Amino acid sequence: MQKYIITGGSRLSGELTLQGSKNSALPIMSAAMLGDGESVLKRCPALTDVYSASRILSYLGCKCTVADGTAIIDPAGSSGYEIPDDLMREMRSSIMFIGAILGRNGECTFSTPGGCELGPRPIDMHLAALRKMGADISDNGGRIHCRLNKRKAHGAKITLPFPSVGATENIILLAVCAEGETIVNNAAREPEICDLCSFLRKRGADIKGDGESTIVISGVDKLHGCEHTIMPDRIAGATYLSMTAAAGGEIILKNTCTAEMEPFISVLEQTGCRIYLAEDRIYLRSGARLRAIRDRIRTMPHPGFPTDSQAVLMAALVIAEGASVFEENLFDCRYRHTVALNKMGADIVVMGKVAVVRGVERLKGADIEATDLRGGAAMVVAALAAEGTTCLSGISHIDRGYEKFEEAVSTLGGKIRRV
Ligand code: UD1
Repeated sequence: MQKYIITGGSRLSGELTLQGSKNSALPIMSAAMLGDGESVLKRCPALTDVYSASRILSYLGCKCTVADGTAIIDPAGSSGYEIPDDLMREMRSSIMFIGAILGRNGECTFSTPGGCELGPRPIDMHLAALRKMGADISDNGGRIHCRLNKRKAHGAKITLPFPSVGATENIILLAVCAEGETIVNNAAREPEICDLCSFLRKRGADIKGDGESTIVISGVDKLHGCEHTIMPDRIAGATYLSMTAAAGGEIILKNTCTAEMEPFISVLEQTGCRIYLAEDRIYLRSGARLRAIRDRIRTMPHPGFPTDSQAVLMAALVIAEGASVFEENLFDCRYRHTVALNKMGADIVVMGKVAVVRGVERLKGADIEATDLRGGAAMVVAALAAEGTTCLSGISHIDRGYEKFEEAVSTLGGKIRRV
């Protein structure tokens, strides 16, 4: 098992070009299996989750290559409808494929993704929506089989009980080639959903309202190939900004999405960091000790504070002056990184969905283990700001979402190596 050895205490300084978004690339790769024609996806990040998605597409009979930042996907001849257990387990987001597989082939078999590092991950909203669009669904000991009458879905009016990102994406994927109109109320408004819709529109889909709470999709008969550039990864952006804020120094982030990162940036600048935005660039300078955040940081669906940025911001705030309070409203087990941060000298008390972070003067390196993707990144943020050396195991979690992570951190002057 590989590890990171990180020596903290260096100020960070430099420029980084932000990677393409993982959470955008995965549903777009799934969408590429609908219709005909080749999809060329530029700025597709080199991540283990992207390679898992590519393996699923190949298993289903699509031609898929991912190399040099470009994924090329041609669904011609793809008639597979089953996602095997091992591929399903590799990546929880494989649930993202069911709307597209059903849309293409009229049936789909997969296993329930079950729990994951963040706690239980139910898929009830996904399944209820597919049923409304005409799917018969049976559960055979955890293997779920969905089948469409006459192999075609029909439009429906669906009101989600919660704006789930994945459920919204699956509905869109099934609706683009369904018969008639689908209306999704209380849809998720995450920027990655807009990226998925803009990709599908380039291919000939008829979708309106993405980025708002009601999305209207009119089914079309055909989708064709296209070229699309994956949007920047706002969570990786939040990670590099938090890292520089915590360790001290300055960073220019290029190829960012400044408007989409606003919910994070508006909180980060309350720490006293200087942040300037210019078109697709973000400049951050961190000098004096960070200040705690006065108001409770509540994770919420977009445009609220993103749950995926909670851990990395917390890792910076553990050495801020004063106390900050987090409230995690999306996932049950999203404070697992606090154990490692406390081992490094942080003072974090977790009570259910609330975490109280009392700033300490300094952190010290420790032997710690990443337990999930963003929690692992948070540990790197803390380690770079700590005195001494940290040995971080479990870094396969980080490889799921950060492209060339140690190279990026080293570019900024951080001392990190993989062993
Ligand atoms: C996506 C992101 C993930 C992010 C999350 C919230 C991808 C690949 N992953 O995950 O990084 O943290 O959005 O912004 O894009 N829920 C149900 N039933 C369902 C579906 C969801 O109860 O059928 C619950 C979940 O358990 C969770 C909440 O709804 O508590 C939000 O989940 P959802 O928005 O669906 O997240 P994902 O799409 O899984």
